[in-house]
Amino acid sequence: MTMKTLFDTTTLGRLPVKNRIVRSATFEAAGAELPGAGESALVARYGAMAEGGVGTIITGMMAIDADARAAAPMTKLYGDGEAGFDAAFAKIMDAVHAHGCKLVVQISHCGLKATEHDNGGPPLGPSDFAAVPDMPGRAMTTEEIAQTVQDFAAAAVWCQKAGADGVQLHGAHGYLLSQFLSPYYNKRTDNYGGSIENRARFLLEAARAVRAAVGPDYPLWVKINSEDFVENGLTLEDCIWVCKQLEAAGVDAIEASAGLGVKDLASRPSRPVKSEADEAVFAAQGHAIAQAVGIPVISVGSYRTPSVIDRVLNDNAFAAVSMCRPLISEPALVARWQKGDTAPARCISCNRCFAPPFGCKVFTD
Ligand SMILES: Cc1cc2nc3c(=O)[nH]c(=O)nc-3n(C[C@H](O)[C@H](O)[C@H](O)COP(=O)(O)O)c2cc1C
Repeated sequence: MTMKTLFDTTTLGRLPVKNRIVRSATFEAAGAELPGAGESALVARYGAMAEGGVGTIITGMMAIDADARAAAPMTKLYGDGEAGFDAAFAKIMDAVHAHGCKLVVQISHCGLKATEHDNGGPPLGPSDFAAVPDMPGRAMTTEEIAQTVQDFAAAAVWCQKAGADGVQLHGAHGYLLSQFLSPYYNKRTDNYGGSIENRARFLLEAARAVRAAVGPDYPLWVKINSEDFVENGLTLEDCIWVCKQLEAAGVDAIEASAGLGVKDLASRPSRPVKSEADEAVFAAQGHAIAQAVGIPVISVGSYRTPSVIDRVLNDNAFAAVSMCRPLISEPALVARWQKGDTAPARCISCNRCFAPPFGCKVFTD
């Protein structure tokens, strides 16, 4: 059997890529307004990572409609900015493609965690629930769900027209689609709550609508929680069922994450990664998914060492691994490894990329 390495060229969820390293979605808290001021910031940031050897970049989550944003500077994929978005995105794609890298846009609705609403109003989600302190959320009506499904499809078409290499539905980390999947948030008694068939309905409708809108060949990926790690959260067994349905709905790749972001075991495993034993924190769950589906699975969560990545790729049925925090502090990490310096990422999981005082040490050598 051929051994896999992180430097293999391969096809990942319909996308030909130069290696098995993906930059996992990382919210551009720098204030990426497109079109506008964020453009040059994204050209610089994505360009540096593309030049730095990453095979595929997944953008930070971008908002599909007026109720979707987690924070004011979250990039909008809706409204009257489409023409400007196309032009801004062309520059970003050029910066990425110049280095043989691919770019996939994460299309997202933050649901009960959306704090910015163009038209006022409360955060929307599966049930009445205050996911953000002092911001009580409201259960969506079935009409709002149907509209949001269409908004996902329209946002995907924006990205396709603007020249992005693919889109990823954000179905993880306790944002809208993940909230519907999770009994922790979803207390509905209609067709969108209760059984996993019902809790997955919104995500599956969104996946089918995007697939119908972008055509059969455009890469469509989904990031999902393999499990929620909270009492009464999504289980691995339910997630595996959902992933099989996603494959049937025309999804091309699954990125397997975990954690609802409500307790210590969040989407960002906040524990420091001090040794190889702390790496690959969700690999077991991702492997279980990969064994159940025929589409590629990307594993995310505390990868720091190339030998660990190679071992995980071969011990598990993964097509790729993705990283977030290591590429914030070291955008040229993959190129460093490729040149033969295989020391682990210098990211120390200080998590200052998440919380004040923002800003970690960035290594550019
Ligand atoms: C600053 C920051 C922003 C993030 N933004 C997103 C996001 O927009 N969408 C998403 O799916 N995950 C997001 N994540 C989670 C990462 O994609 C990844 O799943 C997590 O950090 C674990 O990978 P790591 O150990 O390589 O950092 C973010 C993480 C960090 C640290």
